[in-house]
Amino acid sequence: MPSRLNRRDFVLTGAAAAALGLAPRAEGAPAVLQNKFRPVVISSANGNKYTHDGQETCVARAFRLMTGGSDVLEALIAGVNIVELDPRDTSVGYGGLPNAEGVVQLDSCCMHGPKKRAGGVAALEGVRTPSRVAHAVLQNTDHHLLVGAGAQRFARQMGFTVEEDLNTETSRRLWLEWKRRLDPEHFLDPEKRAQSGFEAGRSMVRDGLIDPAHYFGTINCDGVNAKGEICGVTTTSGLAWKIPGRVGDSPILGAGLYVDGDVGAAGSTGRGEANLYGLCSYLIVEQLRQGKSPKDAGMEALRRVKANTIEKRLLDPKGTGNPKFGLNFYVVNKAGEFAGVSMYESDYAVCTENGPETRKTESLIPGPEPTW
Ligand code: GLY
Repeated sequence: MPSRLNRRDFVLTGAAAAALGLAPRAEGAPAVLQNKFRPVVISSANGNKYTHDGQETCVARAFRLMTGGSDVLEALIAGVNIVELDPRDTSVGYGGLPNAEGVVQLDSCCMHGPKKRAGGVAALEGVRTPSRVAHAVLQNTDHHLLVGAGAQRFARQMGFTVEEDLNTETSRRLWLEWKRRLDPEHFLDPEKRAQSGFEAGRSMVRDGLIDPAHYFGTINCDGVNAKGEICGVTTTSGLAWKIPGRVGDSPILGAGLYVDGDVGAAGSTGRGEANLYGLCSYLIVEQLRQGKSPKDAGMEALRRVKANTIEKRLLDPKGTGNPKFGLNFYVVNKAGEFAGVSMYESDYAVCTENGPETRKTESLIPGPEPTW
Protein backbone atom coordinates (compact mmCIF):
# COMPACT_ATOMS: atom_id res chain seq x y z
CA MET A 1 0.00 0.00 0.00
CA PRO A 2 1.63 3.31 -0.98
CA SER A 3 2.11 5.72 1.88
CA ARG A 4 0.42 9.12 2.11
CA LEU A 5 1.58 11.54 -0.56
CA ASN A 6 3.67 14.36 0.78
CA ARG A 7 4.57 17.64 -0.92
CA ARG A 8 7.87 16.31 -2.18
CA ASP A 9 6.22 13.29 -3.82
CA PHE A 10 3.66 15.57 -5.35
CA VAL A 11 5.99 17.89 -7.27
CA LEU A 12 4.98 17.59 -10.89
CA THR A 13 7.38 16.67 -13.61
CA GLY A 14 7.24 15.83 -17.30
CA ALA A 15 3.96 14.58 -18.73
CA ALA A 16 1.90 15.29 -15.62
CA ALA A 17 2.94 18.93 -15.63
CA ALA A 18 2.42 19.21 -19.37
CA ALA A 19 -1.11 17.83 -18.96
CA LEU A 20 -1.78 20.65 -16.55
CA GLY A 21 -0.44 23.27 -18.92
CA LEU A 22 2.51 23.87 -16.62
CA ALA A 23 6.11 23.83 -17.75
CA PRO A 24 7.92 20.65 -16.66
CA ARG A 25 10.29 21.58 -13.87
CA ALA A 26 13.12 20.27 -11.83
CA GLU A 27 12.32 19.71 -8.18
CA GLY A 28 12.70 22.94 -6.24
CA ALA A 29 12.50 25.16 -9.32
CA PRO A 30 9.55 27.56 -9.49
CA ALA A 31 6.68 26.45 -11.71
CA VAL A 32 6.30 28.51 -14.86
CA LEU A 33 2.63 28.92 -15.52
CA GLN A 34 1.76 28.73 -19.18
CA ASN A 35 -1.92 29.16 -18.50
CA LYS A 36 -3.91 32.15 -17.30
CA PHE A 37 -5.56 29.92 -14.72
CA ARG A 38 -3.58 28.23 -12.02
CA PRO A 39 -5.27 25.00 -10.88
CA VAL A 40 -5.91 24.95 -7.15
CA VAL A 41 -8.12 23.25 -4.60
CA ILE A 42 -8.73 25.02 -1.28
CA SER A 43 -10.63 23.72 1.76
CA SER A 44 -11.07 23.91 5.49
CA ALA A 45 -8.18 22.37 7.44
CA ASN A 46 -9.91 18.98 7.76
CA GLY A 47 -9.43 18.68 3.99
CA ASN A 48 -5.76 17.92 4.63
CA LYS A 49 -6.15 15.91 7.81
CA TYR A 50 -7.96 12.65 7.11
CA THR A 51 -6.79 10.19 4.49
CA HIS A 52 -8.48 7.37 2.69
CA ASP A 53 -6.59 4.11 3.38
CA GLY A 54 -3.64 6.16 4.62
CA GLN A 55 -3.15 7.75 1.20
CA GLU A 56 -4.67 10.96 -0.10
CA THR A 57 -6.39 13.72 1.78
CA CYS A 58 -9.45 15.50 0.40
CA VAL A 59 -7.55 18.33 -1.28
CA ALA A 60 -4.94 15.95 -2.75
CA ARG A 61 -7.59 13.63 -4.20
CA ALA A 62 -9.66 16.49 -5.58
CA PHE A 63 -6.59 18.11 -7.17
CA ARG A 64 -5.40 14.82 -8.69
CA LEU A 65 -8.80 14.05 -10.20
CA MET A 66 -9.40 17.63 -11.36
CA THR A 67 -6.03 17.98 -13.05
CA GLY A 68 -6.44 14.49 -14.51
CA GLY A 69 -9.43 15.77 -16.47
CA SER A 70 -12.40 15.00 -14.18
CA ASP A 71 -15.21 17.46 -13.91
CA VAL A 72 -14.17 19.95 -11.21
CA LEU A 73 -17.27 19.43 -9.06
CA GLU A 74 -17.05 15.64 -9.29
CA ALA A 75 -13.40 15.86 -8.20
CA LEU A 76 -14.24 18.08 -5.21
CA ILE A 77 -17.10 15.82 -4.12
CA ALA A 78 -14.83 12.77 -4.35
CA GLY A 79 -12.47 14.71 -2.08
CA VAL A 80 -15.01 15.63 0.60
CA ASN A 81 -16.37 12.06 0.56
CA ILE A 82 -13.15 11.06 2.34
CA VAL A 83 -14.09 13.28 5.26
CA GLU A 84 -17.81 12.46 5.18
CA LEU A 85 -17.08 8.73 5.42
CA ASP A 86 -14.37 9.03 8.07
CA PRO A 87 -15.86 8.60 11.56
CA ARG A 88 -12.85 10.41 13.08
CA ASP A 89 -14.22 13.72 11.80
CA THR A 90 -17.23 14.23 14.05
CA SER A 91 -18.32 17.40 12.22
CA VAL A 92 -19.22 15.91 8.83
CA GLY A 93 -21.17 12.93 7.48
CA TYR A 94 -21.03 9.50 9.17
CA GLY A 95 -20.31 9.87 12.88
CA GLY A 96 -21.07 13.61 12.86
CA LEU A 97 -22.18 14.95 16.25
CA PRO A 98 -25.99 14.54 16.40
CA ASN A 99 -28.78 16.95 17.27
CA ALA A 100 -30.32 17.43 20.71
CA GLU A 101 -32.34 14.22 20.28
CA GLY A 102 -29.32 12.16 19.29
CA VAL A 103 -30.15 12.08 15.56
CA VAL A 104 -27.45 12.91 12.99
CA GLN A 105 -28.90 15.46 10.53
CA LEU A 106 -26.68 16.49 7.63
CA ASP A 107 -26.55 19.58 5.38
CA SER A 108 -24.72 20.09 2.09
CA CYS A 109 -24.76 22.09 -1.11
CA CYS A 110 -22.70 22.28 -4.27
CA MET A 111 -22.41 24.70 -7.18
CA HIS A 112 -21.08 24.16 -10.69
CA GLY A 113 -19.66 27.40 -12.14
CA PRO A 114 -19.58 26.51 -15.86
CA LYS A 115 -23.01 24.83 -15.82
CA LYS A 116 -24.48 27.54 -13.54
CA ARG A 117 -26.31 24.86 -11.57
CA ALA A 118 -26.68 24.21 -7.87
CA GLY A 119 -28.09 21.58 -5.53
CA GLY A 120 -28.47 21.18 -1.80
CA VAL A 121 -29.96 19.07 0.97
CA ALA A 122 -30.72 20.05 4.56
CA ALA A 123 -31.60 18.07 7.70
CA LEU A 124 -30.99 14.88 5.74
CA GLU A 125 -30.91 11.72 7.88
CA GLY A 126 -29.43 8.32 7.09
CA VAL A 127 -27.10 9.02 4.13
CA ARG A 128 -23.37 9.15 4.86
CA THR A 129 -22.49 11.34 1.88
CA PRO A 130 -24.93 14.29 1.73
CA SER A 131 -22.65 16.00 -0.81
CA ARG A 132 -23.50 13.26 -3.31
CA VAL A 133 -27.21 13.73 -2.67
CA ALA A 134 -26.78 17.50 -3.16
CA HIS A 135 -25.04 16.69 -6.44
CA ALA A 136 -27.95 14.44 -7.43
CA VAL A 137 -30.31 17.37 -6.75
CA LEU A 138 -28.14 19.53 -9.02
CA GLN A 139 -28.03 16.93 -11.78
CA ASN A 140 -31.53 15.46 -11.72
CA THR A 141 -34.01 18.07 -10.55
CA ASP A 142 -35.27 21.52 -11.35
CA HIS A 143 -34.80 22.46 -7.67
CA HIS A 144 -31.94 23.81 -5.60
CA LEU A 145 -32.74 22.55 -2.10
CA LEU A 146 -34.52 19.49 -0.68
CA VAL A 147 -34.98 19.10 3.08
CA GLY A 148 -35.75 16.51 5.73
CA ALA A 149 -37.96 13.55 4.83
CA GLY A 150 -38.29 14.75 1.22
CA ALA A 151 -34.51 14.85 0.81
CA GLN A 152 -34.23 11.35 2.27
CA ARG A 153 -37.00 9.99 0.00
CA PHE A 154 -35.24 11.54 -3.00
CA ALA A 155 -31.95 9.96 -1.94
CA ARG A 156 -33.58 6.54 -1.61
CA GLN A 157 -35.18 6.93 -5.05
CA MET A 158 -31.79 7.85 -6.50
CA GLY A 159 -30.33 4.60 -5.15
CA PHE A 160 -28.48 5.89 -2.08
CA THR A 161 -28.26 3.55 0.89
CA VAL A 162 -30.38 4.99 3.71
CA GLU A 163 -29.35 3.82 7.16
CA GLU A 164 -31.28 3.88 10.40
CA ASP A 165 -28.61 5.71 12.36
CA LEU A 166 -25.39 7.51 11.37
CA ASN A 167 -24.07 7.68 14.94
CA THR A 168 -20.84 5.95 15.78
CA GLU A 169 -20.08 4.74 19.29
CA THR A 170 -18.10 7.96 19.77
CA SER A 171 -20.79 10.38 18.60
CA ARG A 172 -23.45 8.60 20.70
CA ARG A 173 -21.23 8.57 23.79
CA LEU A 174 -20.53 12.30 23.38
CA TRP A 175 -24.24 13.07 22.91
CA LEU A 176 -25.11 11.15 26.09
CA GLU A 177 -22.40 13.07 27.95
CA TRP A 178 -23.86 16.35 26.66
CA LYS A 179 -27.35 15.30 27.83
CA ARG A 180 -25.90 14.52 31.22
CA ARG A 181 -24.43 18.04 31.47
CA LEU A 182 -27.49 19.82 30.06
CA ASP A 183 -30.14 21.74 31.92
CA PRO A 184 -33.16 20.90 29.69
CA GLU A 185 -35.47 23.47 31.22
CA HIS A 186 -33.78 26.26 29.30
CA PHE A 187 -33.99 24.71 25.85
CA LEU A 188 -35.91 27.55 24.16
CA ASP A 189 -34.47 30.58 25.89
CA PRO A 190 -31.49 31.83 23.82
CA GLU A 191 -29.79 33.46 26.79
CA LYS A 192 -30.29 30.55 29.18
CA ARG A 193 -29.68 27.99 26.47
CA ALA A 194 -26.30 29.65 26.00
CA GLN A 195 -25.68 28.94 29.65
CA SER A 196 -27.05 25.41 29.65
CA GLY A 197 -26.96 23.79 26.18
CA PHE A 198 -23.95 25.62 24.80
CA GLU A 199 -22.21 25.63 28.13
CA ALA A 200 -22.61 21.85 28.38
CA GLY A 201 -20.97 21.59 24.96
CA ARG A 202 -18.28 24.11 25.78
CA SER A 203 -17.43 22.32 29.00
CA MET A 204 -16.92 19.17 26.90
CA VAL A 205 -14.52 21.11 24.67
CA ARG A 206 -12.66 22.40 27.71
CA ASP A 207 -12.50 18.86 29.09
CA GLY A 208 -10.94 17.70 25.83
CA LEU A 209 -13.90 15.50 24.85
CA ILE A 210 -14.58 17.31 21.58
CA ASP A 211 -12.43 19.39 19.29
CA PRO A 212 -13.69 23.03 19.13
CA ALA A 213 -13.44 22.83 15.35
CA HIS A 214 -16.08 20.08 15.46
CA TYR A 215 -18.66 22.06 17.39
CA PHE A 216 -19.72 24.02 14.29
CA GLY A 217 -17.43 21.87 12.13
CA THR A 218 -17.88 21.49 8.42
CA ILE A 219 -15.83 20.96 5.28
CA ASN A 220 -15.93 23.43 2.41
CA CYS A 221 -13.87 22.64 -0.71
CA ASP A 222 -13.52 24.82 -3.80
CA GLY A 223 -11.47 24.35 -6.94
CA VAL A 224 -10.49 25.93 -10.22
CA ASN A 225 -8.88 24.00 -13.06
CA ALA A 226 -6.48 25.11 -15.78
CA LYS A 227 -9.44 26.13 -17.97
CA GLY A 228 -10.70 28.47 -15.25
CA GLU A 229 -13.68 26.25 -14.42
CA ILE A 230 -14.74 26.91 -10.82
CA CYS A 231 -16.89 24.74 -8.56
CA GLY A 232 -17.48 24.28 -4.83
CA VAL A 233 -19.06 22.00 -2.25
CA THR A 234 -19.83 22.33 1.47
CA THR A 235 -20.94 19.48 3.73
CA THR A 236 -21.55 19.23 7.48
CA SER A 237 -23.40 17.65 10.38
CA GLY A 238 -24.01 21.22 11.52
CA LEU A 239 -23.98 22.58 15.03
CA ALA A 240 -23.48 19.86 17.63
CA TRP A 241 -26.63 19.22 19.75
CA LYS A 242 -28.74 21.62 17.63
CA ILE A 243 -32.51 21.87 17.98
CA PRO A 244 -33.82 19.16 15.60
CA GLY A 245 -34.52 20.69 12.21
CA ARG A 246 -32.02 23.51 12.69
CA VAL A 247 -30.34 24.32 9.38
CA GLY A 248 -27.13 26.33 9.39
CA ASP A 249 -25.29 28.14 6.65
CA SER A 250 -23.75 25.12 4.91
CA PRO A 251 -26.58 24.09 2.53
CA ILE A 252 -27.73 27.65 1.82
CA LEU A 253 -26.52 29.08 -1.48
CA GLY A 254 -24.80 32.39 -0.82
CA ALA A 255 -24.06 31.49 2.80
CA GLY A 256 -22.13 28.20 3.19
CA LEU A 257 -21.06 28.37 -0.45
CA TYR A 258 -21.29 30.59 -3.47
CA VAL A 259 -19.74 30.08 -6.89
CA ASP A 260 -19.87 32.40 -9.87
CA GLY A 261 -18.23 30.66 -12.81
CA ASP A 262 -16.99 33.98 -14.19
CA VAL A 263 -15.56 35.30 -10.92
CA GLY A 264 -14.68 32.86 -8.14
CA ALA A 265 -15.91 30.83 -5.19
CA ALA A 266 -16.21 31.23 -1.44
CA GLY A 267 -17.33 28.89 1.32
CA SER A 268 -17.38 28.78 5.08
CA THR A 269 -16.99 26.86 8.29
CA GLY A 270 -17.78 28.04 11.80
CA ARG A 271 -20.82 29.63 13.42
CA GLY A 272 -23.46 29.25 10.72
CA GLU A 273 -25.94 31.71 12.18
CA ALA A 274 -23.39 34.53 11.93
CA ASN A 275 -22.73 33.73 8.30
CA LEU A 276 -26.39 33.21 7.36
CA TYR A 277 -27.27 36.67 8.63
CA GLY A 278 -24.92 38.29 6.10
CA LEU A 279 -24.89 35.71 3.26
CA CYS A 280 -21.15 36.11 3.36
CA SER A 281 -20.11 33.74 0.58
CA TYR A 282 -22.23 35.73 -1.85
CA LEU A 283 -20.84 38.95 -0.43
CA ILE A 284 -17.27 37.70 -0.89
CA VAL A 285 -17.82 36.67 -4.51
CA GLU A 286 -19.38 40.08 -5.20
CA GLN A 287 -16.27 41.69 -3.66
CA LEU A 288 -14.11 39.56 -5.98
CA ARG A 289 -16.21 40.75 -8.90
CA GLN A 290 -15.40 44.33 -7.94
CA GLY A 291 -11.70 43.54 -8.12
CA LYS A 292 -10.80 42.79 -4.51
CA SER A 293 -8.19 40.11 -3.79
CA PRO A 294 -9.44 36.88 -2.16
CA LYS A 295 -7.95 37.98 1.16
CA ASP A 296 -9.49 41.47 1.09
CA ALA A 297 -12.87 40.12 -0.03
CA GLY A 298 -12.90 37.63 2.84
CA MET A 299 -11.81 40.24 5.38
CA GLU A 300 -14.66 42.51 4.33
CA ALA A 301 -17.14 39.73 5.14
CA LEU A 302 -15.53 39.13 8.54
CA ARG A 303 -15.74 42.86 9.35
CA ARG A 304 -19.46 42.82 8.51
CA VAL A 305 -20.03 39.79 10.75
CA LYS A 306 -18.16 41.50 13.57
CA ALA A 307 -20.26 44.68 13.14
CA ASN A 308 -23.48 42.62 13.17
CA THR A 309 -22.57 40.83 16.37
CA ILE A 310 -24.05 42.93 19.16
CA GLU A 311 -25.84 40.50 21.49
CA LYS A 312 -23.99 40.04 24.77
CA ARG A 313 -24.27 36.24 24.67
CA LEU A 314 -22.27 36.26 21.41
CA LEU A 315 -19.53 38.62 22.60
CA ASP A 316 -16.19 37.83 24.18
CA PRO A 317 -16.81 37.68 27.95
CA LYS A 318 -13.54 39.59 28.48
CA GLY A 319 -15.32 42.72 27.23
CA THR A 320 -13.25 43.27 24.08
CA GLY A 321 -16.44 43.79 22.06
CA ASN A 322 -15.30 41.05 19.70
CA PRO A 323 -17.43 38.05 18.71
CA LYS A 324 -16.71 34.98 20.82
CA PHE A 325 -17.11 32.48 17.98
CA GLY A 326 -14.99 31.24 15.12
CA LEU A 327 -15.90 31.74 11.47
CA ASN A 328 -13.69 30.93 8.49
CA PHE A 329 -13.94 31.64 4.78
CA TYR A 330 -12.08 29.90 1.94
CA VAL A 331 -11.85 32.01 -1.18
CA VAL A 332 -10.53 31.41 -4.70
CA ASN A 333 -10.82 33.52 -7.83
CA LYS A 334 -10.90 32.44 -11.45
CA ALA A 335 -7.16 33.01 -11.85
CA GLY A 336 -6.48 30.52 -9.04
CA GLU A 337 -5.48 33.13 -6.45
CA PHE A 338 -6.75 32.05 -3.04
CA ALA A 339 -6.96 32.91 0.66
CA GLY A 340 -8.13 31.36 3.91
CA VAL A 341 -9.42 34.00 6.32
CA SER A 342 -10.94 33.71 9.78
CA MET A 343 -12.31 35.66 12.73
CA TYR A 344 -9.60 34.21 14.99
CA GLU A 345 -6.37 32.38 14.19
CA SER A 346 -7.03 29.14 12.38
CA ASP A 347 -5.82 26.84 9.60
CA TYR A 348 -6.91 25.91 6.11
CA ALA A 349 -5.82 23.42 3.44
CA VAL A 350 -4.73 23.96 -0.13
CA CYS A 351 -3.39 21.83 -2.96
CA THR A 352 -1.52 23.23 -5.96
CA GLU A 353 1.02 21.67 -8.28
CA ASN A 354 3.31 21.73 -5.23
CA GLY A 355 1.10 19.27 -3.35
CA PRO A 356 -1.23 19.42 -0.34
CA GLU A 357 -0.45 21.84 2.49
CA THR A 358 -2.01 23.09 5.68
CA ARG A 359 -1.53 26.83 6.13
CA LYS A 360 -2.39 29.49 8.69
CA THR A 361 -5.36 31.68 7.84
CA GLU A 362 -5.24 35.48 7.86
CA SER A 363 -7.28 36.38 10.92
CA LEU A 364 -9.29 39.55 11.55
CA ILE A 365 -8.64 39.34 15.29
CA PRO A 366 -5.27 38.15 16.58
CA GLY A 367 -5.11 35.11 18.86
CA PRO A 368 -7.30 32.04 19.37
CA GLU A 369 -11.09 32.02 19.82
CA PRO A 370 -11.74 33.37 23.31
CA THR A 371 -14.32 31.04 24.80
CA TRP A 372 -12.76 27.63 24.48
N1 GLY B 1 -21.16 26.14 9.64
C1 GLY B 1 -21.84 24.99 10.00
C2 GLY B 1 -23.07 25.23 10.74
O1 GLY B 1 -23.18 26.21 11.46
O2 GLY B 1 -23.97 24.42 10.64
